[in-house]
Amino acid sequence: MSHSNLRNLTLTVNGKEYNVTVEPRMLLSDVLRDELGLTGTHVGCEHGICGACTVIMDGRAVRSCLAFGVQADKAEITTVEGLAEPGGDLHPLQEAFWEKHGLQCGFCTSGMLMSACHFLKENPNPTREQIREGISGNLCRCTGYQNIVDAVEMAAELMNKNKESVEGPSDKKIIHSRGEVEV
Ligand code: FES
Ligand code: FES
Repeated sequence: MSHSNLRNLTLTVNGKEYNVTVEPRMLLSDVLRDELGLTGTHVGCEHGICGACTVIMDGRAVRSCLAFGVQADKAEITTVEGLAEPGGDLHPLQEAFWEKHGLQCGFCTSGMLMSACHFLKENPNPTREQIREGISGNLCRCTGYQNIVDAVEMAAELMNKNKESVEGPSDKKIIHSRGEVEV
């Protein structure tokens, strides 16, 4: 194999900058797992169906098995390893998945958490129906989804409570994702 096609990438993952040299055909999921050792990102179907490999890249939820590593050059990525606080405190989503038993085997969980994280950023006050839609791109073969919906609902409450304790009560108005304002 000729190495002339190797490409150098610089990417920031969970706040840390990495430089790696990879083949252009290498998938982002493989770069994360094999080159950076971040094996929290799981690979299930490897063709965009299960959502297990979901990460957040430049603010968007992305299936890392459908992106090449070279597409992440200069990107900012968050993987499940970056969800908890640096001091070890769990992210409200992790807290809620634990509390509500939102996982069994855990294979889908990292992707589910990352999709839910992006979803709650877009829609901080979702209905249960919206939660179902928000996680509909992630397959879970164990839980029947009920506890996952409960967990995302609880995480939304926790996150709104945290926000309130930082910014003060938000009883003035709620701005929904589509821009409607509720007073
Ligand atoms: S492994 Fe990427 S969507 Fe299934
Ligand atoms: S917890 Fe097993 S696949 Fe979701």
